[in-house]
Amino acid sequence: KLEEPLKLIIWGAPASGKGTQSELIEQKYGLVHIAAGDLLRSEVSAGSEKGKKAKEYMEKGMLVPDDVIFTVVKERLSQPDAQKNGWILDGYPRSLSQANALQDLGIRPDLFILLDVPEESLIERVLGRRLDPVTGKIYHLKNSPPENEEIAARLTQRFDDTEEKIKLRLHNHHQNEEGVLSIYKDIIFKVSGDAPKEDVFAEIDKKLSSIVKARLEMEASA
Ligand code: AP5
Repeated sequence: KLEEPLKLIIWGAPASGKGTQSELIEQKYGLVHIAAGDLLRSEVSAGSEKGKKAKEYMEKGMLVPDDVIFTVVKERLSQPDAQKNGWILDGYPRSLSQANALQDLGIRPDLFILLDVPEESLIERVLGRRLDPVTGKIYHLKNSPPENEEIAARLTQRFDDTEEKIKLRLHNHHQNEEGVLSIYKDIIFKVSGDAPKEDVFAEIDKKLSSIVKARLEMEASA
């Protein structure tokens, strides 16, 4: 086990598979999955002030204001489980100003995983995506269907998963891409995300294992 746990950022367009790969990374490496969108959706369902504000923007496919998202992400990162086990941050930072806010906290990940998926696949993925409200697991009607009828019957769809909203979300993503990548250019690991999820994970797993191995050797010789 590493003395200093792994800290990762996973990045990519909406529906590039960040949540799906984070689930797999979390299972194998024991990191805490911190998803900005999930944190916001829980604020929305709790009906908190932050949630009410966030919903106005999320419904339009726009980014919520920096101060709202920064507070929730910062609080989650400072929880003991994330401090102890390490984390994988998904959906933050999404702009240059957010990346700078993270740097100002002294937070720099070990690796920035960039999922690369062509636009046609992204739209198809959003339209077919379904979520299990009981387990939180992500499905796709065609690519990753539910295991049984019982799960199938309770699946829900996200309120921003429409063709109109995904086009806006993609537009915002492209506008911010260059700024975010400029901050992490020396630690970017680019992976093609346009392959079955197991194959995408195999690439990421290979890279993470080599980082863990090198770290363990370094810690042993220190
Ligand atoms: P968020 O929830 O983060 O949405 P997103 O970035 O648009 O990302 P998604 O969750 O849509 O996709 P994903 O990459 O996780 O893909 P998934 O694994 O689910 O944010 C929602 C909103 O919150 C934003 O629009 C914004 O308003 C607000 N927000 C969030 N963060 C913010 C921030 N930092 N600042 C301001 N506002 C913020 O996969 C998608 C589908 O594809 C699934 O159905 C899956 O089964 C399928 N799939 C996955 N991998 C594969 C594969 N390899 N092959 C085939 N199908 C696959």
